Amino acid sequence: MVTFKHLGPEANELAKLPSVERLAHLRMERWIGYTRAHQVLAQLEALLASEPGKLRPRNLLIVGPSNNGKTMIAEKFRRTHPQRISENGEHEVIPVLTVQMPAEATVNRFFTALQVALGTPVGFYGRHDLREVSTLRLMRTVGVRMLIIDEVHNLLGATARRQRELLNLLRFMGNELRIPVVCLGIRDAYLAIRSDDQLENRFHPLLLPLWESGEEFARLLASFETVLPLREPSHLSSAPLYELIWRRSEGTIGEIAALLISATTAALLQGEERITCAVIERADYQPPSVRRRMVEQELR
Ligand SMILES: Nc1ncnc2c1ncn2[C@@H]1O[C@H](COP(=O)(O)OP(=O)(O)OP(=O)(O)O)[C@@H](O)[C@H]1O
Ligand SMILES: [Mg+2]
Repeated sequence: MVTFKHLGPEANELAKLPSVERLAHLRMERWIGYTRAHQVLAQLEALLASEPGKLRPRNLLIVGPSNNGKTMIAEKFRRTHPQRISENGEHEVIPVLTVQMPAEATVNRFFTALQVALGTPVGFYGRHDLREVSTLRLMRTVGVRMLIIDEVHNLLGATARRQRELLNLLRFMGNELRIPVVCLGIRDAYLAIRSDDQLENRFHPLLLPLWESGEEFARLLASFETVLPLREPSHLSSAPLYELIWRRSEGTIGEIAALLISATTAALLQGEERITCAVIERADYQPPSVRRRMVEQELR
């Protein structure tokens, strides 16, 4: 039985497949742990475990640049507390409810997002004036213990009045259900929350900063290497690959992942079993700043 010592168990199995089959698997999202993500997950766990029904629940605001793993962390957390059927078999239990702040943020659209997440069949959404009551009731019935709201920066696109309505609603929901609310978004999410004094001091900010060059980045590359189904080790975390990947990916985990997937694709298409600098140069990947410049030139 062949084993590839540089690969994790799943990639080990995949690596045995012919290139075409491996190519098909490459686009699948896979979770890679890193220190900051583990810290954020630990905070979420602590929040979920803290005494339920506390009068003033603590809230978290996870802020970081776009494409830097915020949604992946929220999803990972939700998967560890999945939806299930209640013990008496009568209803669903949804310990962690995740929604997105709608792009055009209004109270009404937000309730629709909540009802969709709760699995309410369309047509049962109810009269506008009753939606708040029925949605909160349903959230209690299914035992929601944490509400996660992604893309909270969308709030800033709304008129001042709508922003205020939604911020009031967030405060009200947390108080009424006595559950922690976790908001995720880019910097504008922080600005939106900060515009309400009462909310600001209830939300503890957690940053997911751009990646810096250093040991942690090297560790991330080493972890990525264990999941890419190539038969030979590439040594991504050593020079000169480390430097090249660092320079081209420009600091977000999304770009690091995109670059490595393109490089693996290029390697497999060329019949190679490891990533080299030459493979990366030939891969169908441009750093974000280059992509931006290309678009700007096209538009000129
Ligand atoms: N822990 C992880 N393991 C592996 N890949 C990851 C991880 N986190 C993020 N990625 C990669 O980065 C991409 C972007 O992540 P994600 O969608 O979570 O970013 P985001 O911070 O929510 O961005 P946005 O603000 O634009 O919504 C993912 O599609 C995935 O390819
Ligand atoms: Mg996201």
